[in-house]
Amino acid sequence: MSEYQWGVLGGGQMGYAIIAGAINAGVLEGKNVIVGDPFRTKEKREKWLKLGATCLTKNEEVITQSKYLLLSVKPQMMKEVKDVLANMKSDQTVVSVVAGCSIEKLNETCGHAKVVRVMLNQACLIGHGAAVLCPDKDVPKCDFEMIEEMFKATNGTVDIVLERSMDAFTALSGSGIAFVYQFLEALSDGGVHAGLSRELSKKVAVQTVLGAAKMCEETGKHPGELKDNVTSPSGTTIAGIRALEKAGFRSAAIEAVIAATERCKELS
Ligand SMILES: NC(=O)c1ccc[n+]([C@@H]2O[C@H](COP(=O)([O-])OP(=O)(O)OC[C@H]3O[C@@H](n4cnc5c(N)ncnc54)[C@H](OP(=O)(O)O)[C@@H]3O)[C@@H](O)[C@H]2O)c1
Repeated sequence: MSEYQWGVLGGGQMGYAIIAGAINAGVLEGKNVIVGDPFRTKEKREKWLKLGATCLTKNEEVITQSKYLLLSVKPQMMKEVKDVLANMKSDQTVVSVVAGCSIEKLNETCGHAKVVRVMLNQACLIGHGAAVLCPDKDVPKCDFEMIEEMFKATNGTVDIVLERSMDAFTALSGSGIAFVYQFLEALSDGGVHAGLSRELSKKVAVQTVLGAAKMCEETGKHPGELKDNVTSPSGTTIAGIRALEKAGFRSAAIEAVIAATERCKELS
C-alpha cells in the first residue's frame, strides 16, 4: 500500500500548477502528496509546504511511496531520473507531462508501471487549462478514471486523444498559451502607444481577449463570423484588420503552431 496518493518528480512550474490546481479544486489533499525536486531555492520548498505536501530531495523515496507519479521534469532531465524510474512496480501509474516523451519511451523507462501521457498548459493552476490524456492500453479503468477526474478539476477542457496528435496538441495548448501572452503584451503596447496608461491598457487587453474567448465558447460561433459581426464598412476595425493582414498576423500564428509542433517532434 503506497503511503502517498500522488508523487511528483520535478516540483517546478507544471508540477506545481497541476497539484495546486487539484488541491484548490478540492479533489486532492496536500498531505497525500510527496514531491521530489532538488529544491535549490527556499521559496520553492515553502510553496509546496504551504500546500501541505512532503518535500524530498531523494527521488527514490518519492517513487517507492507513491501510487500515481506525476512526471514533470524537463525533457533533458529524463536521463537524470531514468535509473530511479526503472524500479517502478506494476501497481503504480506514471502520468507524464514531459513534452515529446512518447508512451514507448515511457514504457522503456518506467519499469513495470502503467503509463498515461498528458499535455496541458499553465492555466491548469486556475482551473482553465486545456488538457489531453493519452493512456497506454493496459491502464486499469479505475486508475484512468481517477486521473481523468483530477485533470477535469484543473482544466476547462479534457479530451482523450490518440498519441499521434500529441505533438500538435503540445504546440497548440502547451506552447499556445505563450503565443496568447505575447499577443496580449502587444495589444497592450498598442494601447500605450495610443495614449493609455500601461495599467489600464493591460487590464483592457486582458478583458478583451477573455471576452473574445468567452464569446467563441458560449455562442459556439466561428471566430470569423464573430469578427465579421463587429467589422463595419470603412470602420475602425477593418482598418486594424487590414494592418494585421499586411503584417502577416494570421500566417505568423499558424507558423508558430507548426514550428512548435516540429520542435516537439525533434525532441521525441
Ligand atoms: N511550462 C509549461 O507551460 C509546460 C506545458 C506543458 C508541458 N510542460 C512539460 O512539463 C515539464 C516540466 O516543465 P516546467 O515548465 O514545469 O519546468 P520546470 O519549472 O523547470 O520544472 C522542472 C523541475 O524539475 C526539477 N528537477 C531538475 N532535476 C531534477 C531531478 N533530477 N529530479 C527531480 N526534479 C528535478 C527542476 O529543479 P531546478 O529548476 O532546480 O533544476 C524543476 O523544479 C517539461 O517536461 C515540459 O515539457 C511544460
